[in-house]
Amino acid sequence: MSILNVAIVGVGNISRAHMDAWKNVEDAKVTAVCDIREEMVQRAKDFTGATGYSDFDEMLAKEKIDILDICLPTNLHADFAVKAMNRGIHVITEKPLSLNKADVKRTYAAAQKNNVRFMTAQVLRFWQEYELLREAYRTKKYGALISATMTRVGSTPRRSWDNWMLDEKRSGLTPFDLHIHDLDFLVYAFGKPASMQVNRARGEKRDDIHVVYHYDGFFVSCQATWYNAVFRFRSAYRFQFEKAVMEYEGGALTIYHEDGTNEQPVKATATFDDPSVPTSNAYLNEIRYFVDCVKAGRDCDKVKAHELETVLTLIEGLA
Ligand SMILES: NC(=O)c1ccc[n+]([C@@H]2O[C@H](COP(=O)([O-])OP(=O)(O)OC[C@H]3O[C@@H](n4cnc5c(N)ncnc54)[C@H](O)[C@@H]3O)[C@@H](O)[C@H]2O)c1
Repeated sequence: MSILNVAIVGVGNISRAHMDAWKNVEDAKVTAVCDIREEMVQRAKDFTGATGYSDFDEMLAKEKIDILDICLPTNLHADFAVKAMNRGIHVITEKPLSLNKADVKRTYAAAQKNNVRFMTAQVLRFWQEYELLREAYRTKKYGALISATMTRVGSTPRRSWDNWMLDEKRSGLTPFDLHIHDLDFLVYAFGKPASMQVNRARGEKRDDIHVVYHYDGFFVSCQATWYNAVFRFRSAYRFQFEKAVMEYEGGALTIYHEDGTNEQPVKATATFDDPSVPTSNAYLNEIRYFVDCVKAGRDCDKVKAHELETVLTLIEGLA
């Protein structure tokens, strides 16, 4: 079995879930890690046993890399992805691909020109509890979808590197940090909504967005919020179908049936103790899917360029 060499750039917060996941991919190994903060490089080296770099170009020059995993601040994703793909490296990047729609064409063009695989890791597409929801809609097993709520709320980030999360030009604030997860899922599962209504309470220390997306026959009401308080992150959904309610709350999916019974169809498989990481281990699922595409020379069409463009177009309406 040939082992793919993986490099990770940006080894802050979310990279930990990626490093955990890579440890469970037997045909790939993290051989290089890069971050401009020495202490983060050290932490990642200790965790993976990889060679550490504080300069991305030096890492590219010295290492033989098959896959680059980008966990950098959002504004850097597209440039780093294109640079790596132009060296023949396959790239998986954290969400969102970019704050700008134009970057979608640019990155996919680089992937095509260099005949490498590229994927934005929109993790809900690999999250079993969300996949079951999409399937219930598609198969109509509980009848038609009537209405839904999705929430994704937590504290205003106070300790990100260089405070980049509070800089709209680098993070895009709650639309790109939080809401894009749910919006991307909606576009993936139901397509482009017919219309949307937005309310936003935004200040220096908070950002609270409520959006209702209208589809033919149903609507979805979403909330994405940074509160000015220490407020544990949580994400949830409740979808009302004709014959059942599917609720994801506290990390578990429960399906309430019209006959009075209920079930929890997803069994926990993950070993992480981080409550923001799903029990069904979507980070491993997305990475496994990407590696399979790389090995097969197949496009990663579970995340399509036109869907990412639709999401970025809709998100422009939230500014
Ligand atoms: N899928 C998810 O559930 C999820 C969750 C959190 C964050 N994210 C995404 O992951 C990305 C990173 O978020 P985070 O919370 O881990 O941020 P973070 O600030 O904790 O980590 C980013 C790291 O990049 C490093 N860095 C900055 N510029 C660099 C450069 N030029 N070269 C090398 N390293 C550099 C920083 O030192 C920092 O350690 C964001 O785009 C965010 O949207 C996704």
